[in-house]
Amino acid sequence: MNFHDELEQKVSDVNELLTKALSVDTGYAEYLMDAMRYSVMGGGKRIRPILMLESCKLFKDPVPELPYFMAAIELIHSYSLVHDDMPCIDNDEYRRGRKTTHAVYGETTALLAGDGLLNFAFETATRAFNVTDDAAKVGKAITILAKMAGIFGMIGGQAADVQSEKDGERLTEDKLLFIHENKTAALIESSLMIGAVLAGASDDDVKKLMEIGSGIGIAFQIRDDILDVEGSFEELGKDIGSDAENGKVTYVTLYGLEKAKADVAAYSDEALNGLKSFQRRNEFLETLVESLINRNK
Ligand code: IPE
Ligand code: IPE
Ligand code: MG
Ligand code: MG
Ligand code: MG
Repeated sequence: MNFHDELEQKVSDVNELLTKALSVDTGYAEYLMDAMRYSVMGGGKRIRPILMLESCKLFKDPVPELPYFMAAIELIHSYSLVHDDMPCIDNDEYRRGRKTTHAVYGETTALLAGDGLLNFAFETATRAFNVTDDAAKVGKAITILAKMAGIFGMIGGQAADVQSEKDGERLTEDKLLFIHENKTAALIESSLMIGAVLAGASDDDVKKLMEIGSGIGIAFQIRDDILDVEGSFEELGKDIGSDAENGKVTYVTLYGLEKAKADVAAYSDEALNGLKSFQRRNEFLETLVESLINRNK
């Protein structure tokens, strides 16, 4: 199978996993579950769960605990987008080619759908305890997920991001890197780390994957900032010019398009070299990371 067919197959596997996870009866909370399903399904590149799967495969064949964590990371990512799009944060109307959750269900339900997804992610991850013969390993993976999704990761980065936007401050290089590292790289790092932890990789290897994930994540957000300037709605599925409209300082406004593009390549190359240094090679993973450099969606 060529890379694109293989990727498509993996995306469809992730979608199946998510559909199954979200197929639960919630009684009178069904309207909220509808909004949660709407937020998660019907689009999305599913990069994080696929990175997790491929990271595990750097060490061994997929393990039974993996699907619960693959679903969990995408549920957390999807919730972060629901809240990120709300009027009090980025105020965006389109996501993944459709109206945003708050535009369809209203702000109150969007807020609760985000909360519900975050919690449901951990409910889903803890189900891995039912299939494992190594509870400590599952505990370690949950610890990583909790930390990287919270104040020491994604939420911390989002907070620094909106705070500096509101203050209209001239962002320093250091603070912009903090924002990218946390709001975006943290979930990508945790994807790679959790895949490795579940595969039983050594602490040294997990740490190495954290550094690789940091590079991939920073590159991913710089590319996102570039696409907000020169991408297309048709491909991205979200409105471009959102950052400019919010008066946001991004990698592009700080350094210009040319350097931004060069740095995406540089961060990605370093990450790729890291990936190539493991005993086992994962060509699909390497091609995936490479393909993100010039992604248009
Ligand atoms: C968008 O993430 C938000 C960022 C962290 C840049 P993705 O580009 O992974 O969005 P989907 O999941 O494919 O829609
Ligand atoms: C969002 O960054 C990162 C999150 C943690 C949600 P952006 O605000 O740039 O993401 P998009 O452009 O709305 O997808
Ligand atoms: Mg944002
Ligand atoms: Mg946004
Ligand atoms: Mg953006």
